[in-house]
Formats: sequence, C-alpha cells, structure tokens
Amino acid sequence: MEKSQKRRVDPEALKKEAAEAALAYVPKGCVLGVGTGSTTMYFIRGLKKGWVRGAVPSSKESERALRKKGIPVLDLNQAKKVSVYVDGADEVDRRMRLIKGGGGALTREKIIATAANKFICIVDESKLVKRLGKFPVPLEVVPMARDQVAKEIRRRGGRPVWRKNFMTDNGGEILDVHGWRVTDPVKKEKELEGISGVICAGIFGKRRADLVLVGGPLGVRKIKGGRGIRW
Ligand code: A5P
Repeated sequence: MEKSQKRRVDPEALKKEAAEAALAYVPKGCVLGVGTGSTTMYFIRGLKKGWVRGAVPSSKESERALRKKGIPVLDLNQAKKVSVYVDGADEVDRRMRLIKGGGGALTREKIIATAANKFICIVDESKLVKRLGKFPVPLEVVPMARDQVAKEIRRRGGRPVWRKNFMTDNGGEILDVHGWRVTDPVKKEKELEGISGVICAGIFGKRRADLVLVGGPLGVRKIKGGRGIRW
C-alpha cells in the first residue's frame, strides 16, 4: 500500500502516465510532430514502429530517440502537414497557455506546434500554475545580440540569466528571464519577439495547447478548451 502510494506521486511516474495517454490521440499513418524533454521521451518510448508515416522532431535529441525506435524522421519542409504535435511544458495556465524551453528547444517547438492541426501537451500536475512566470521565461537569442537583449530585458523589469555553455540546435543562445508575472501571455510573447536579436520567446500564448493531459495521483486528467478548469 505504502509502496504503491509512493509510485503514484513520483513525478516521473506521472509524466509517464500523461505521455502514454497521448499515444491514443495519434492517428495511424499520420505525420506526427514530436517535442523535446523527459516527458516527451516517455511518449517516444511508447510509439510503435510502423504506426506513423513519419515524425518531425523539435530537437536532435528527439530525432536520435525516434531513429532508435525505427520511426522515419521528416524535415518540416518535406512533411505536407503535421496532424498532431505532442510535447511537454514547464508551466501550463488555466487557458492552456504555456512556458516552454527548459530544454532549450523552444524555437523548433513553436514552429512545429504552429504547423500542427492539434497540439497535445503532456505534463505532470506540478506544471499547473494560475499565472505564468514562476518558471523563468527562456529566450533564444542570436549570440552576438545577447548583451544587448539582456540590457533591454532589464529595462523591462526582467532579470536575464545567460545559460552558459549551452548552444541550441540552431546555434542560438538562451537567456532565462526571472522575475516576471506574465499576466497577458499573448501580449508579452509579441513584445519579446519584437526585440531585435530575440529569435523566440518561450511563451506559447498565441499557439497554446489544444489539449492538456495532466498526470496526477488520481490518474490522467484531460483539459480541453480552457473551460471549467480549477487548480
Ligand atoms: C524543451 O525545450 C521544453 O520545452 C520541454 O518541453 C519542457 O522543458 C518540459 O520538459 P520536461 O518534460 O523534461 O519537464
């Protein structure tokens, strides 16, 4: 009894349950978008060879994991359309807007999520927040513009921290911005992506999730349409 209770609240077990629940939403023969991170890794592990026509990964790490499973990897330019995109998140608010980019793959994640008909977000319940911003907002920046962008962010009340010794798959660098309460995610995302030198902001306000599968101690909750959500 004690043992099974422990297993149910282990965040890794909850991530795995959410990831496995997402497998039921992947149509046979589709082109699948695949995100990055530990929750998405559980999802990749559950994918069956031959089920999808191909997968568009948001990082080299996910690409390697897909290839290992024998799943054909497609470039977004080759894929006519992406039916479903499955990915984790660092924070999810009540309207299914997200902070993403803890793993640094935010730019490709946003591109594929935007291309997909449906975005399914898979998280354990620790990721649910009333307001985005406790998790620092990642910004992918052009390396030569890093200090200039940091100065601009400080002017706007944020505390940027350079993720040293980290380079994205696109050759960009990451600034993690602390200290913001993101009350209007769509507005903040637009504002940040308008700063010269910013490639992508890790706020997914315009392209939020369509469905969130949340692993919790009582099983996997489905959150859809942003209605009737309490947490
Ligand atoms: C990767 O860049 C991120 O957007 C991940 O989706 C996010 O950090 C969630 O990661 P975990 O599933 O590892 O918590």
